[in-house]
Amino acid sequence: MQKFVLDDICCPARMEGDACHGRLVLGNETVTPVHARQDKDELVEGILACQDCGGAYPVLCGLPILVTDPWHYLWDRYDTITGLAREAGFPVGQTMDQLIRTKNADTAPRTEKEDKYESLATTHEYLAVHFDDFWRTLPEGHPFRAIVHDHYGSDFYSVAVGMLEPFLDPTMLALDLGCSVGRGVYELAGHCKLVYGVEFAFRSASVARRVLRHFPCPMNDYWLKFDGDIGEKRLLPDFSRDNVEIVVASAANLPFSPNSFGVTNSWNIIDRLADPEGTIAEQERVLRPEGILSLTSPYNWNTALTGRKRWIGGTKGVRTADAIRGRILQNFEILDEKAYIPWIFWIFERFFEVFFAHGLIARKR
Ligand SMILES: C[S@@+](CC[C@H](N)C(=O)[O-])C[C@H]1O[C@@H](n2cnc3c(N)ncnc32)[C@H](O)[C@@H]1O
Ligand SMILES: [Zn+2]
Repeated sequence: MQKFVLDDICCPARMEGDACHGRLVLGNETVTPVHARQDKDELVEGILACQDCGGAYPVLCGLPILVTDPWHYLWDRYDTITGLAREAGFPVGQTMDQLIRTKNADTAPRTEKEDKYESLATTHEYLAVHFDDFWRTLPEGHPFRAIVHDHYGSDFYSVAVGMLEPFLDPTMLALDLGCSVGRGVYELAGHCKLVYGVEFAFRSASVARRVLRHFPCPMNDYWLKFDGDIGEKRLLPDFSRDNVEIVVASAANLPFSPNSFGVTNSWNIIDRLADPEGTIAEQERVLRPEGILSLTSPYNWNTALTGRKRWIGGTKGVRTADAIRGRILQNFEILDEKAYIPWIFWIFERFFEVFFAHGLIARKR
């Protein structure tokens, strides 16, 4: 985490539903901040303290953990996080480790949470779809080539960015919600002054930061699965950007002040969230007047992720695209819309997923 981030983030604590949004400062008497070896501005590990409510938020692997219960969050992902920290060459410090244990002393014995977005396999699937070229991964003579040939000239990101580009400018502060391994953040960074990626899964956030910032260490390759354990290590092109940062936070409880951003993206996350309405409301809150919202999704509602009562459409005869459009129109003017943006995911050599996302670009009134 670069030091300037402290000027933009704020406390995510909730008190009886209201957010604290107090100023965060670096400091805690027990944990000494650890900086990257080559760059004193890069904080790898430390504690951020809220000047209003006194809440404490750890920074690990260069990522501030800005969630409402950060110690529990770390406990749920302890093996993943300590493993990633070791891999990056900055193992979790003894004092921080002790603090995580003390804070969770009364918590039930630890069981690593089942979150597909924390898994290594899913992270590598996202690295493939975000950063590799679909046509290069597909072997010559593979029958899928002929099936998609006429319909997949541009990947999802080219289409989504193409829709947004006319409304971006180089003075803008941008936010990409549920950024996964970071392609949306990379794309926005080419058009905006500074981009924050918000991601709830620690592994995805950490990989995004390694791909985009090369900190705490670079991510140069990934694993493309062919079949079972068989696959190939593929080199990643250089996707580094100077003007990006990643924070661990929830899209439904953003650690940013109102009216901060010129543009917010939520690409393919609304149907993955417990609180889709909260996420739209949060985007509205952090966008400045006239700010631009970009939303895409295939609306693949799943009750395991989003209780049916929280779906926006997709029930009682109302199509989700219509319900989402109606919701956005309450406080936005729609600038562009596409009914179907295709997206192909490589899962393995004989298994692909194909989505058609609905896409909207809107301006806050
Ligand atoms: C389907 S993926 C989409 C990723 C990326 N936006 C894209 O279009 O490729 C959904 C992402 O949302 C993240 N996510 C899930 N719940 C979240 C939350 N409450 N806040 C932020 N991100 C979340 C997941 O970890 C995952 O990376
Ligand atoms: Zn606070």
